Amino acid sequence: MSAIDSAVLDSRGLDVERIREDFPILRLQVNDHPLVFLDNAASSQMPQPVIDRWVKYQTSEHANIHRAVHYLSEKATAEYESARRKAQRFINAPDEHAVIFTSGTTDGINLVAHGYGRKFFREGDEIILTTLEHHSNIVPWQMVAEEKGAKIRVVPINDHGELDVEEYRRLFNAKTKFVGVTHVSNALGTITPVKEMIAIAHEHGVPVLVDGAQAAPHLPVDVQDLDCDFYVFSGHKLCGPTGIGILYGKAALLEKMQPFKGGGDMILSVTFEKTTYNTIPHKFEAGTPPIAAAITLGAAIDYLTGVGIERIAAHETDLLDYATQEVNRTPGVRIIGTAERKAAVLSFAVEGVHPHDVGTLLNEEGVAIRTGHHCAQPVMQRFKVPATCRASFAFYNTMSEVDALVAAIRKVQKVFG
Ligand code: ALA
Repeated sequence: MSAIDSAVLDSRGLDVERIREDFPILRLQVNDHPLVFLDNAASSQMPQPVIDRWVKYQTSEHANIHRAVHYLSEKATAEYESARRKAQRFINAPDEHAVIFTSGTTDGINLVAHGYGRKFFREGDEIILTTLEHHSNIVPWQMVAEEKGAKIRVVPINDHGELDVEEYRRLFNAKTKFVGVTHVSNALGTITPVKEMIAIAHEHGVPVLVDGAQAAPHLPVDVQDLDCDFYVFSGHKLCGPTGIGILYGKAALLEKMQPFKGGGDMILSVTFEKTTYNTIPHKFEAGTPPIAAAITLGAAIDYLTGVGIERIAAHETDLLDYATQEVNRTPGVRIIGTAERKAAVLSFAVEGVHPHDVGTLLNEEGVAIRTGHHCAQPVMQRFKVPATCRASFAFYNTMSEVDALVAAIRKVQKVFG
């Protein structure tokens, strides 16, 4: 029985110890210490019921989908389409056809940049992005902008790592054709005011893509309430597998877009003279998709929904608050990214020690964090640092793991005198 079946809850509504029993990997010892896994923003771990779902599919359900009338093909197709509906409910999308399986957030953004941008951008058009973006929400737009002669405008951030919404408002003009904005910064944890930013863009008739890679695992997401035009996220940050993600798009926009990849399953008919594309979502799912990964993502969504996204958010806020307090009490450690609204990410610098050395010494204590530029070099440039140390939390982390992190940081400081 998994934690979500046993419904044993603490005062915050979450029995973390019980939940941890579902995650076999959390029992690992690393360098003779219990693993303290604080690299969840890069990829989170998979609980046993989700692993079991993958095994069940491979053991008794696998065949190609949408292609045959035999039992296994129909079973795999039904489970794949059922996973699409789970993703639809997870983000409250109005229609399952507006939910496209991608290989991940990066793939989803590329699909929109190439499928929308290459069709609709013209010379001199402007695309608004923000300083907080991950490279995956910068580079695809640069590629299309270069091809089309379009320009990228950038929303600045303040010293806390918060977007300057007034400056964002001023960036709009008649040439503005698109906005791309992250929901939560992967490098700093800032929760951005996406709903307000979408409303501003819509006043100018401009569509908005929200990068939800760091938000979907930590906050309730309602794409209808946000009124975003596109929303993307990844399975592997959601306790699901790698190689799968979701692109939600408003159906009217998806219908107008050019498919990014051509191949099987995305067509209605093909002759050498003319090809007619399939309806959405299939128009954007060329070739055999990652069927096992999609179905397993459905199981991960079931798991997270069973635990409860609100409970997850509340527990992670407690972890972040406690970690922030303890790191602030440690002289010589500076937190980078002090926005009022933050989710699950603590970026910091240890005075006089390169982040990679911090990461290496923390690993000796069994503590896994990410160090580097976090694929967000503009954020590093803004704070004039080459890299940061980043601890990122999931709902299965505990307060004593925060203590282990802080104790390990103090040990690093001792080693470096
Ligand atoms: N985008 C992932 C991260 O922030 C890989 O670590």
